[in-house]
Formats: sequence, C-alpha cells, structure tokens
Amino acid sequence: MKTLIKNIKNLIGIIEESQAYKKGKALSEVSFLEHSYILIDGEKISDYGPMSECPNNADQVIDASNKLVLPAWCDSHTHIVFAASREKEFEMKIKGMSYEEIAAAGGGILNSARKLKDCSEDTLYDMAKARLEEVTKFGTGAIEIKSGYGLSVESELKMLRVIRRLAANSPVSIKASFLGAHAIPTEYKEKREAYIDLIINEMLPQIAEEKLADYCDVFCEKGFFTVEETDRILKAAASYGIPPKIHANQLSCTGAVQVGIANNAISVDHLEMMGQAEIDALLNSDTIPTVLPSCSYYINIPYAPARKMIDAGLGITIATDFNPGSSPSGNIPFLLSLACTKMKLTPEEAFNAVTINGAYAMQLEDQLGSITKGKLANLIITKNIPSLTYIPYMFGSNHIDKVLIRGKVI
Ligand code: NIG
Ligand code: FE
Repeated sequence: MKTLIKNIKNLIGIIEESQAYKKGKALSEVSFLEHSYILIDGEKISDYGPMSECPNNADQVIDASNKLVLPAWCDSHTHIVFAASREKEFEMKIKGMSYEEIAAAGGGILNSARKLKDCSEDTLYDMAKARLEEVTKFGTGAIEIKSGYGLSVESELKMLRVIRRLAANSPVSIKASFLGAHAIPTEYKEKREAYIDLIINEMLPQIAEEKLADYCDVFCEKGFFTVEETDRILKAAASYGIPPKIHANQLSCTGAVQVGIANNAISVDHLEMMGQAEIDALLNSDTIPTVLPSCSYYINIPYAPARKMIDAGLGITIATDFNPGSSPSGNIPFLLSLACTKMKLTPEEAFNAVTINGAYAMQLEDQLGSITKGKLANLIITKNIPSLTYIPYMFGSNHIDKVLIRGKVI
C-alpha cells in the first residue's frame, strides 16, 4: 500500500543521513522542502521531493495544500500508567503547599502506589490506553513509559505487563522503564536497605526473565534514593543488560547526573538544579540531558537551564513527564511553547529536541524522529498554518489536522 502526501506547503525535519542527535549550534538546524511531496510505502517513508518530481502511482493520496508535514513527536519520559488522578493535591498546591509538603502529608508517589495496588491489570490497561490515544492525537508517535507506582514485586510487574500490552497492541513505538526505585514504600520506611534488596534480588531478576524493561530508572534525590543506592541498583540492572535512564537533579544537586553518566545512562532527566560540574560532566559523555518544562510549570520549580546547556554545546531532549503528580499533561505542542517562552529556546531548537533528540533518548534514532528515507512514517500533518514557529506561538490551539503512525492515519 502506497500513500502519497502531495502539495505540502513545507516538509520540515528532513535529515538525509542517519545521525545520532543534534547538539549545540546544530540543534537549531532544521532542513525543509517547500512545495513538496512525501511517499509512504507500507509503514515507511520511501521517498520525498519537490512537487515537480511528484510520482502518480499511489493507492491513496492526501492533499496537504497550505499544510506543514513534520515527523511525529518522540516523548522519551512519561508515567502514563497510573490508577487515579490527584487533583486534590492540585488544590493543596494552590493553597501554598510544596511538592515535598504534599508528599509528606500522604500525597505524592505513595498516594499513587496505594491506588494502584487495588486496581486490576485490565483497568490499568484501559486507562493507560486512553491516555496513549489522547497523546497520539497531540502528535506523539513514540513514547517511553515508566513503572514506579507499584513499589512491590506484584504491582511493579503489573505495571510493566500493562506497558508490554500497550506496546503489543498499539502502532506507537513504546519503550518501558523499570522505576521500582521511585520512593521508599511506607512499610519499608525504617528498613530502606531491605527495599533496595527487594529491587535487586526479587524485582530485577523477574523483570529480566520476562524481558519487561528496556531501561532502569531511579529517582536519585534527597529524601528518595541516594547516589550510593542509585549506583547499586544501576549496576544490578546492568548485570541483566538493562541500561539506565534516571531522574536526576530535580530538587537538588546531589551527584545524580554524575552517577548516571558513570553508569552509561542513555539519558539523565529533569535537571532543574544544574551546576557547571554537571554541564562539564555531560559534555564528556554520550548521555543526553532531558528537560521537562511542564513539570516546572505545574509544580512551580525552576526551569532546567536548557539555554545555558545548549550554549555550552550540549544536545537536549524535551519530554512531557506525563504523570498525575508533577505533570498531568502529555501535550507536546504546549511543551514547545514552554520551551520557547520559559527556557528561551528557538522554535527550531525545541522542535529538534522533541523529534530527533527524543528518538535518541529512546534509542530509536535509526527508526524515528526525522523525515528520512527508510524511517517509519510517523508524521504530523498540520492544519493551515503559516510556519513551524506558529505552533509554539499560538499556544493552546490545536494545529494538528492528521497524525499518521506507521503510515496509517489514526
Ligand atoms: O518525574 N520526580 C519523580 N517522579 C515524577 C513525579 C511522580 C509523582 O509525583 O507522582 C516526576 O516528576
Ligand atoms: Fe518523571
């Protein structure tokens, strides 16, 4: 089955040669082709070019006059499997309580874990599937999803099996991260060592046996997991061939970035609290820094210094962190706007950060994240809009007309 999209006003995000990711000055480079076509053969992009060379042998033709065509977004950090929303905490926050105070008052991650324990795998699956379908309509074509609201062998496995089912039943490319080290469960409060042993000796072996996780995550933060505990967990995961992607430097500068890099993390995520030492360490590594602007927006904490990081020569990824407690949104167009207005990224930098760089942060850069022959045809066709910049500029409106995943309009 061949699908032709023709009369495209601007085909944006072309990368001819496969490349890892964009960093420093190159992060602002976006190649495009005006008045063009793109041809899809089955699930993949087979060709593109100027309208003067447009083929006429397709089974299906989509007219994209006045529209832009972009690669679908790659959201490399989410927690979309959860049992209940937490809008009560939203009200507490409005009244002045901090994220840490809400957690100490029985809210936070432990609240989500209590709800998830009593939720069946089927119900969890149905709720997560609805969220996945929602974000796909916002243009997301690849997503990483974490466990971490289980915090027991049974519930962590339940979450990861839900993610596996989503991956089996959805055309969206999905990666799973095991985040058993998200918080110390209440019953282990006085014996945290025993919980870390449980992660290492019970959870990880079963997860590895069932091949349930692509990555291992740890919330390395004051009051959660120390650098030493993080190191132990990541080394145990590495012994099963599971590499790290970790929560680092969200609330404080503790050495989380460095321990991630030392363990060859694919990415270190959050980074609201960054010193020069962290930037220097990242410059000497292949670990990609990932920033989460909607978390800063929602819980009112500083934004990661993304501008400074890019100016220092780093590449960055932007992701939603979609979760019920610190970022209840999976809307990437809104993130683009936050990245521009709050982090001072140009629209082009923000675009690359959620396409090719997002793909890299999920090790999918050979398959996704750009308009490249042979890559999966995960594409966004916009409405009639003047430019890429218009998407973050006219924030809150829906600028997407169609989304194609693996060559099919969804
Ligand atoms: O990425 N920081 C840790 N974990 C999530 C928040 C989880 C929650 O509050 O439920 C995050 O922000
Ligand atoms: Fe997160």
